[in-house]
Formats: sequence, C-alpha cells, structure tokens
Amino acid sequence: MDKPRIAILGGRGMLGSDLASVSREQGFDPILFDLPGFDITNADHVRQAVSRAGMIVNCAAYTNVDGAESEPEWAFQVNAEAVGRLGAIVREAGKWLMHISTDFVFDGKSDQPYVETDSAHPINTYGKSKLAGEELLAESGCRYCIMRVEWTYGLAGNNFVTKLLQRARAGNALKVVDDQVGSPTATLEVSKTICELLKSQPEDLFHFAAAGYVSRYDMAKCIVNKLSMDVDVAPCKTSDFPSPATRPLNSRFDCSKISRLLSEPIKHWQEPLERFLGQL
Ligand SMILES: NC(=O)c1ccc[n+]([C@@H]2O[C@H](COP(=O)([O-])OP(=O)(O)OC[C@H]3O[C@@H](n4cnc5c(N)ncnc54)[C@H](OP(=O)(O)O)[C@@H]3O)[C@@H](O)[C@H]2O)c1
Repeated sequence: MDKPRIAILGGRGMLGSDLASVSREQGFDPILFDLPGFDITNADHVRQAVSRAGMIVNCAAYTNVDGAESEPEWAFQVNAEAVGRLGAIVREAGKWLMHISTDFVFDGKSDQPYVETDSAHPINTYGKSKLAGEELLAESGCRYCIMRVEWTYGLAGNNFVTKLLQRARAGNALKVVDDQVGSPTATLEVSKTICELLKSQPEDLFHFAAAGYVSRYDMAKCIVNKLSMDVDVAPCKTSDFPSPATRPLNSRFDCSKISRLLSEPIKHWQEPLERFLGQL
C-alpha cells in the first residue's frame, strides 16, 4: 500500500526537519518545501505543493520575533496573507491542512494556563501576524487544524537552549529572566503529536506543550546543571532587557484538550530536554 504523502511547508526549519524524520519513521511519505525553491507567498508554488500530497502541514513562518517590529509587512505577508491564500488553495483541492501557531497570540497577562477558548490579544507584531494567519485560515473555508506550540527547541534551529549554551561556552556569566514562565517543548515531541493527528485529521484548535511549567531562569539552571557547566546563572527581569518586541510573561498552556486525543500522556518538559542535551 502507498504511504500517505504529506507536504511539509517550511520543511527545513527547526520543526519541519524533525517532522520530516519522525513522519518518515512512522510510515508517511513527507515531501519538503522551503526557501529558496518554495516561497509560501507565491500562489503558484503553493498550488504545486498542495497538489503533491493528501495532507499539508504548514511549518513555514517568519519567526524573527524582534525583526518583525521593523519588517511588519514581510511578517504579515508570510504569517497571515500567505496562510489565508494557502487555506483557499487547500479548500479548492479538497485537502486537509495542519497549521502551526504560537503562544504569542496571547498577551501573557492571565494568571492561569491558556485554554483554546481564551481570547487572543497579541502584544507584538509577530504575534499579531500569527493571529491574523489563524483568522484568515478560518475564513478560507478549508478543512484545517491549528496547533499552537510554545518555547520550542530542536537540533535544526537557533533557540533558547542553543543560544544559552553559546553564551555559557563563551565564558559569559548568564543573566536569565525569571518572570517568563512556560513549558520548554522539543520539536521531536511536537512532531510525534502532529503525526498522531495526521491519522484522524481533526478540524479544531489545540494547544500543545510539554507537561509542567518552569521559568526561563530555572530552565537555564537545569541545563547548566545537567551539563555540569561551571557557569554562574543569575536571575533578572524581562524589563532589564529592553528588546524591540514585548514578550508575554505567562506562556503556560492548558493542554487537556489535545491530551484526550493522544495515545500516551504528554511528557514532562525535563525528560525530552535531557535527551536533547545528550545529543548536542
Ligand atoms: N521557535 C519557537 O519557539 C516557536 C514557538 C511557537 C510557535 N512556533 C511556530 O512553529 C512553526 C515552526 O517554526 P520553527 O520554530 O521551525 O521556525 P524556523 O526554524 O524559523 O522555521 C520556519 C521555516 O519557514 C521558512 N520560511 C520563512 N519564510 C518562508 C517563505 N516565504 N516561504 C517558505 N518558507 C519560508 C524558513 O526558512 P528560512 O530559515 O530560510 O527563513 C524556515 O525553514 C512556526 O509556525 C512558528 O511560528 C515556533
């Protein structure tokens, strides 16, 4: 029997590349589309990609959170307009789309973990562009699922873990914010979850993150301890580090909704993080 074919848009990014290997291991036939040969803002490229597979997973995005403040048009073209157009093309083709979104659609002011029905109020341009993408996708009328993820890290990208280790290895003392709280989430775990959903093709909105919550500061201490690094980690506040884009302080997700669909409990954040550190 032919393997189910999936088109992974943004297939060479941090999430896309893990999804490619995990989906292949799980018996899918992934085809990867990414810059420079594939541009999600080009309707012909998107039409061609959608025609090649029964299911489409959109991991392509403008992900430079600070850069989006000075390049808002570019962020909106990739994260919003292109996603709406992708939805229209998927609808015409009668296929199903999994789209990846972010905790940055929230302002982080709630004192509770966010559920899918909470109102979104993004506080930076990247978050606004991603929320606009979700809305345009909903208007497109295609069959789709949105999975919001947060604090992701993987082997194929620059992320909090790799940046922290670069600074630590350069011998710098580390100051890390203790007022941003979330769930460090391995793109390998996100990929496994996407593969489970590919089998049932739900049409819904889900939050997915590793289980448990931690501050960036405690996460940094955990990494340094696990690697037995001789480096000082000191706590500080987000306000000590002015950056072009404001960050939400509370990134906690309530993942009960997606948990009910999964065959295994979601792993606590420490276990995949330790495995990841062992691979570096
Ligand atoms: N990283 C996080 O902490 C995080 C948190 C929450 C949600 N997310 C979401 O997770 C998804 C995957 O992101 P990621 O972490 O894997 O980021 P990533 O490594 O930056 O991957 C995004 C991919 O999209 C590609 N891309 C950018 N513009 C494109 C265009 N016009 N046409 C085609 N491809 C384009 C990028 O190519 P280039 O590298 O060449 O630009 C890259 O390969 C995104 O939807 C992101 O918003 C990420």
